[in-house]
Amino acid sequence: MKQFHAIAIDGPAGAGKSTLAKRLANELGYVYVDTGAIYRTVGYYIWICGIGGKDADGVRRLIDDVNVAIEYPGDGLQHMLLNGKDITGEIRTPEISMYASQVSAHKCVRDFLLDTQRDLAKTHNVVMDGRDIGTVVLPDADVKIFLTASPEVRAKRRWLELQEKGAKDTYEQVLADQLKRDEQDSTRAVAPLKQAKDAVLVDSSNLTLDETAARMLAIVKEKLNA
Ligand code: DC
Repeated sequence: MKQFHAIAIDGPAGAGKSTLAKRLANELGYVYVDTGAIYRTVGYYIWICGIGGKDADGVRRLIDDVNVAIEYPGDGLQHMLLNGKDITGEIRTPEISMYASQVSAHKCVRDFLLDTQRDLAKTHNVVMDGRDIGTVVLPDADVKIFLTASPEVRAKRRWLELQEKGAKDTYEQVLADQLKRDEQDSTRAVAPLKQAKDAVLVDSSNLTLDETAARMLAIVKEKLNA
């Protein structure tokens, strides 16, 4: 019998996955695992090494030098350590978003990170969010939710978030970057973003955050018979 429960939340960039998955994890007392942050950490390393994210040979050459560790020191944040250095605050820029999307298309990167993600689910109750959690990483997850919203709504939310942080990006830039990432993430050959057959679709375009959270919790409770 399975010892731990796993809830997989997949969807495109800006659908609100991290906010909602974190909230769900808090409500359930599960560990929230942000797998995008893991890809961002690899993307960040490739970026500081001055290699292009699409450079397959360059990425393959460097991937063995990467040591990714995840820590939960209890401040509500998932801390990412790259070769021992905490880079949690460095990986949220639009540039690293694009790098993460590019490096995540390489099979060597996905293979490299697969066990790290699976091991977390073997040892904890998890709410894990990403692009391929329900399809590849945890195909036997107890609950799978595919969370999406229209591209315009997602871009608007991301743009407002960036504005709050003082970034100068225009809405049009954010939308263009997001469409590019959507395209890259869903058309790559290895583990593309797609809804698992047994995932429940939640479209948050016309829902508030609270409404979306309530819907997700109801789905989880129903599936777990809680
Ligand atoms: O969720 P995010 O925006 O932080 O993810 C950054 C990039 O990482 C995303 O554009 C694609 C990649 N990613 C992935 O390929 N698979 C995952 N499970 C999570 C993220």
